[in-house]
Amino acid sequence: MTTHRLLLLPGDGIGVETIAEVERVIAYFNETAKSARFETETDLVGGAAYDRHGVAITDEAMAKALKAAAVIFGAVGGPKWDGVPYAVRPEAGLLRLRKDLGLFGNLRPAICYPALADASSLKRELVEGLDIMIVRELTGGVYFGEPKEIVTLEDGQKRAIDTQVYTTHEIERIARVAFDLARKRSNKVHSAEKRNVMHTGVLWNEVVTATHKAYAPDVELNHILADNCAMQLVRKPKQFDVIVTDNLFGDVLSDEAAMTTGSLGMLPSASLGAPDPHTGNRKALYEPVHGSAPDIAGKDLANPIATIASFGMALRYSFDMGKEADLLDQAIAAALGAGLRTADIMQPGMRQVGCSEMGSAIVKELGALAG
Ligand code: IPM
Ligand code: MG
Repeated sequence: MTTHRLLLLPGDGIGVETIAEVERVIAYFNETAKSARFETETDLVGGAAYDRHGVAITDEAMAKALKAAAVIFGAVGGPKWDGVPYAVRPEAGLLRLRKDLGLFGNLRPAICYPALADASSLKRELVEGLDIMIVRELTGGVYFGEPKEIVTLEDGQKRAIDTQVYTTHEIERIARVAFDLARKRSNKVHSAEKRNVMHTGVLWNEVVTATHKAYAPDVELNHILADNCAMQLVRKPKQFDVIVTDNLFGDVLSDEAAMTTGSLGMLPSASLGAPDPHTGNRKALYEPVHGSAPDIAGKDLANPIATIASFGMALRYSFDMGKEADLLDQAIAAALGAGLRTADIMQPGMRQVGCSEMGSAIVKELGALAG
């Protein structure tokens, strides 16, 4: 039997509660394992790491992340750490993980569960059956470009600088991820940039076009300005299948796409590195799209589905356990189908449950589905 080593990084706020439910799902898979089981260790990240160690992630935790087959991440941040120095703010832990693990490809599905179509702020007919995959470049662009600083000018004014940088290689490899995914879906990619204003947008457009020609002429490619993409996402979201875009536009567009589905609390994500030349394995981190929700943390109110579904993406993308991943998706749909709802997706006539009861229900449905 294969053993996969997972590093769990619950982080702050509701990350702690939602990762606890993932641990129960992992325990279920371990008990019923036929070919692969999971060994987990846990460490601190974000504000929790800052409180204990004065940094957003320690070198020891980074070393564990580098050795793990996958990292399962909760959430970081909260008002408690608003005043901490910029370099050690909670988000710095997540950014270091992305950068040091080389996780350049961020997959953010926005799927509308049929049971939740009415929870969307858009009309049901616009979102029912919606299934978009946002492919966000995650280790470049304005998040990491240098210089990145605030300088004081001679007259006492300050000047802040962030730098948007992209190279051919960075654009080409994320474009390939998008084309590969599109081939397994509806074979259509939209590439979003601002070529009308930014040189990085011009290069992005050129490289995606060239990659398409050389690598994926069979896939339908559309170029769209990022602002228009934002508008089209709320006008007619079902026109999209795969959207590939840079780090900052991807941050914004993925939140927007997520909200159209009815709940941010439902959506997982995967961040993948390049395949190892020897083993073919990719470094990977899986995390919910939502944040740490400090206002509801510790109250058993959080929705664990996004984090559990993130573990499902790990089964699919890191461990080639597509059957188990399908089973987990079905168990989530079954718990929703049985009328269970956490507060964020509560609707009339449904039964409101807490984070742990939702987790138990999903584990129970797993058992029922497996027979
Ligand atoms: C996300 C988050 C992060 C980002 C923050 C927490 C640094 O918003 O994963 O989308 O901006 O990338
Ligand atoms: Mg974001």
